[in-house]
Amino acid sequence: MKSVSVVIVALIAQVQAGLRFGCSSLTIQRLDPVVEPGKNPSAHLHHIVGGNAFNATMTGDVGERGTCTTCEMAEDFSNYWTAVLYFKHPTNGSYHRVPVTNNAALASGTKGGMTIYYTQHDFSTDDLKHQYITAFPPGFRMTVGSPTTDTLAQAKGHIGLRYNCLQSLLNRGAEMVDFPTKPCPAGIFTVHHFPACWDGKNLDSPDHQSHMFNTIKYDGFTNAPACPSSHPVRMPQLTYETVWDTTKFNSLWPSGAPNPFVWSFEGSSGYGTHADYMFGWKGDSLQRAMNKSECFYDGCGSIKKQAMATANQCTVKDMVGEQTDGWVTKLPGMIS
Ligand SMILES: *[C@@H]1O[C@H](CO)[C@@H](O)[C@H](O)[C@H]1NC(C)=O
Ligand SMILES: *[C@@H]1O[C@H](CO)[C@@H](O)[C@H](O)[C@H]1NC(C)=O
Ligand SMILES: *[C@@H]1O[C@H](CO)[C@@H](O)[C@H](O)[C@H]1NC(C)=O
Repeated sequence: MKSVSVVIVALIAQVQAGLRFGCSSLTIQRLDPVVEPGKNPSAHLHHIVGGNAFNATMTGDVGERGTCTTCEMAEDFSNYWTAVLYFKHPTNGSYHRVPVTNNAALASGTKGGMTIYYTQHDFSTDDLKHQYITAFPPGFRMTVGSPTTDTLAQAKGHIGLRYNCLQSLLNRGAEMVDFPTKPCPAGIFTVHHFPACWDGKNLDSPDHQSHMFNTIKYDGFTNAPACPSSHPVRMPQLTYETVWDTTKFNSLWPSGAPNPFVWSFEGSSGYGTHADYMFGWKGDSLQRAMNKSECFYDGCGSIKKQAMATANQCTVKDMVGEQTDGWVTKLPGMIS
C-alpha cells in the first residue's frame, strides 16, 4: 500500500501588530526641520514630542543620535509635531496658547503630549489581506495636511485629519472637518492619520508628501486597501492624537459667536490642520515590533518601555527664545 502523506496547512490567524503609546510634550518652539530645515525661527509655532535630537536641522540616523525621549517606548527617538492651538480673545483680540492635556487611557504620568499609533491598518476580518509591514528607514520624514488648505472641499479630501468636540475625555462625539462651533465640555481633540504606502525609494520628497500614498477612503482607523504599484511598500500607519484643553476659555466664548480657536499659522478655519514626522527608532526596534503579533498596543514584550517619570526628564533647549505663553498681542511669527 502506498502511504499517503497529508500535509496539514495550519492557517494561523494572524493578530496584527499595532503600537499605541503616549509621548509627553518635549518642547513648543518655532522650528520645523522637515519643511524649513536650518531656519530658526520657522514660520509658525509647533508642539513637539519625542527624542532630544530635535533641532532646526536633522539629518542622518536620528535613532542613533537621540539619548532620551519623552515617549513611553524607550527606543523611539522620533519626533512628532503639529501646529499649536491658540485662543483669540473675541473682544480684545489677544491670543493665549491652549494647553495640551494627556489623553485618557495612556500611561500615568504622561504630561500633555500626544498619543502615537503605529498600526497595520488592515486588522480586518480577512487575515489573508494582511501585508508585510516595512518599518520606516533612517532619515525618513513626511508631512500630512497643509497650512495653506483653505476650502471645505480640500479639507474633506484630507482623509484622517479631523476634530472632535470632547463631551468627556472618553466620549469624543462625531469627527468634524473643521473646528467645533460651540464650546466643548472637555476640550478639542485633533487626529492626524498619515498615509501608509511608500514609493520604496525616497526618504523625503519636495512637497514632503508625494513619496507616500494614502489608500484610505474613510476617516478613523479603517481597513486599508492594497498599496498601488507607484507606492508598493506598506508601512506602519502612523497616527497622532492630541487633546487641547480649551475648557478654561469656554466662559470667554460668548454664545453664538464664531469659533475663537486658531492654529499658530493663523488660519481662519481649521482646514489647514497638518502634522510632521521625523523617523528616529533605534536600529531595528520598530521592525521588531511590527513583526510581532503580540505587539499590540502597549502590551509588547519585545519593545523596551520606560516609566513616564523618566520620559518627562527628557528636554531640549529653547533655541528660539520668544514668548509663546500668557496673553500675547500677536501669534509668534505672525504680523497681526
Ligand atoms: C543643533 O544644531 C546646532 C547647530 O548645528 C548644534 O550646535 C547643536 O549641537 C545641535 N543640537 C542637537 C541636540 O543636536
Ligand atoms: C484681553 O483680555 C484678557 C483676559 O480678560 C486680558 O488678560 C488681556 O490682557 C487682554 N488684552 C489686552 C490687549 O487688553
Ligand atoms: C521581520 O520579519 C521579516 C520577514 O519574516 C524578516 O525577514 C526580518 O528579519 C524581521 N525583522 C526583525 C527586525 O525582526
